[in-house]
Amino acid sequence: MNIKGKTALVTGASRGIGRAIALELAKQGAKRLLLVARDATRLAEVAIEIEMLGVEVVTLALDLTQLVEVNIVLAQAWRDHGPIHLLVNCAGVAYQAPFLQSQLPQVQEEINVNLIGMYTITRLIARRMAAQREGKIVNVSSLMGKVAAPTMATYSATKFAILGFTQALRGELAVHNIRVMALLPSLTDTDMVRELKWFRWVVPMTPERVAQALVAGLDKESPEILIGWQSHLAVWCNRIAPMLLERILLMAAPMKDRQKRYRRLNNSPIT
Ligand SMILES: NC(=O)c1ccc[n+]([C@@H]2O[C@H](COP(=O)([O-])OP(=O)(O)OC[C@H]3O[C@@H](n4cnc5c(N)ncnc54)[C@H](OP(=O)(O)O)[C@@H]3O)[C@@H](O)[C@H]2O)c1
Repeated sequence: MNIKGKTALVTGASRGIGRAIALELAKQGAKRLLLVARDATRLAEVAIEIEMLGVEVVTLALDLTQLVEVNIVLAQAWRDHGPIHLLVNCAGVAYQAPFLQSQLPQVQEEINVNLIGMYTITRLIARRMAAQREGKIVNVSSLMGKVAAPTMATYSATKFAILGFTQALRGELAVHNIRVMALLPSLTDTDMVRELKWFRWVVPMTPERVAQALVAGLDKESPEILIGWQSHLAVWCNRIAPMLLERILLMAAPMKDRQKRYRRLNNSPIT
């Protein structure tokens, strides 16, 4: 898909990866961008940056967990600013906790934003794309959608689910000339991970790098865009030697009793 002259809607566009994607789409010649997130002030700041590139911008300050409002505002947005050719589902939240100490409200928020929010907006936009027989949808998953990591159980579960959702829609919507793909960033330096304890040995990438990989991937028919050698290595290792990767992940995970867990996994006596 060539983005030149097209209209795109990006969720999670107020900061981080979504903001970088919106700016990259503007640089690549998008005609109009619709930006969705909760924080109206930050959205307005991103809009100014994009307008300076000569691209039309519409900001939609929305909480994706408020489903009725999302449906009303997006239906109006399509009517007033559509048709939308590209939907990038990037909004997401992540909480890190050992599973036994995890909190239900945080788990519910991850499911509500990462999955129900994505489902709601995708259904609304995909129906209209089907009517115009054209569209592309990019769902932002994660490397953690391929390789589940200790301390991130629900987040990983939502990101695995996004890959299943994407694969199913890809088959189902092809008949309407709607292409669906997933973007799988690995650790990226954004607000999301500043609060998290990082996994050892993982080198973060910039949001701009992720955005460039997405735009490059739009032209290709690949169902999934994996970014960086670390991601390719992890996915390859998971396929060829899953037990080895499980051990590496336990060693890398930010858990207090890392050594003890590692020995347990190896069935060695615990001293
Ligand atoms: N950073 C990483 O290492 C990494 C790695 C792999 C995948 N990802 C994925 O990439 C995506 C973007 O992450 P990021 O790192 O850029 O995170 P971020 O900097 O924390 O940005 C998250 C974005 O989602 C929006 N958002 C959160 N809750 C929302 C809600 N209820 N309604 C509407 N918008 C909401 C936020 O905007 P407001 O706060 O203004 O609402 C913000 O724009 C996520 O799906 C994440 O899972 C991130």
